[in-house]
Amino acid sequence: MIELLHRLREMPLYRELLAAVHSSEGNTLEGDDDRALARLSTIVRTLEKHRPLSVIETGTQKGLFGIILIENLFTFRLTTFDINPESAKAAELLGARFVLGDTRQTFSAWNETADFAWIDGGHWGGVAASDIRNAMRLGIPVILVDDMDIPEVLHDVAVVAAENPGYRLSRDGEIAIFEKELAK
Ligand SMILES: C[S@@+](CC[C@H](N)C(=O)[O-])C[C@H]1O[C@@H](n2cnc3c(N)ncnc32)[C@H](O)[C@@H]1O
Repeated sequence: MIELLHRLREMPLYRELLAAVHSSEGNTLEGDDDRALARLSTIVRTLEKHRPLSVIETGTQKGLFGIILIENLFTFRLTTFDINPESAKAAELLGARFVLGDTRQTFSAWNETADFAWIDGGHWGGVAASDIRNAMRLGIPVILVDDMDIPEVLHDVAVVAAENPGYRLSRDGEIAIFEKELAK
C-alpha cells in the first residue's frame, strides 16, 4: 500500500490537484503517512470488493479521493459535491461532475443514485447525518463515512444506524462502512 501512496503522490495530476484548490482542511492523502495509508487501505479494499461504476462523494476538496478512483477503477463516473467553488477546478481535472453548495440542500435535492458513496464533507452541524441519510434515500448500496475520530461524525453515524435503515454497519479504523442488507 505504501507503493500505491507514493505512486499517487508522484502523479502529475496529484500535483495539479494540490495547486488547484487551497484548503486548510484535512484530506485523504496529504500529510501523515500512517493516517493516509489506513484510509487508502480501507478505500481500496472496498473498491476491490464492490467494483462500483458510479460514485458519489460529499466533500470534494482537492479531489484526492477521485485520484484514488482513477488509479483503482477501470471505468467509473464520479459526482462530487462541495460548498467551496474552488473545488470545481479539482473536479474538472478529474473529469468528474461537480455540484456546488451546502449538501444539506444540494444532496437533499439530488435524485440520481450511484453504486458507492464517500461521505467526507461537513463534519459538524448534522451535515454527515444528512449526507448519510441522502445516500440511503437513494439506495446507494455501499456508503463509507470518513473521520469517525471526530465526535460529531461518530454521533451522526450512531444516530442514523439506530434508525434501522436496512444497512449493516461496520468500522475499519476511522471509516464507517454501511452496506445495504439484501432483501429477504
Ligand atoms: C475533509 S475535506 C474533503 C476531503 C476529500 N473528500 C478527500 O477525500 O480528500 C471536507 C470538504 O467538505 C466541504 N464541506 C464542508 N461542509 C460542507 C457542506 N455543508 N456541504 C458541502 N461541502 C462541505 C469543505 O469545503 C471541504 O472541501
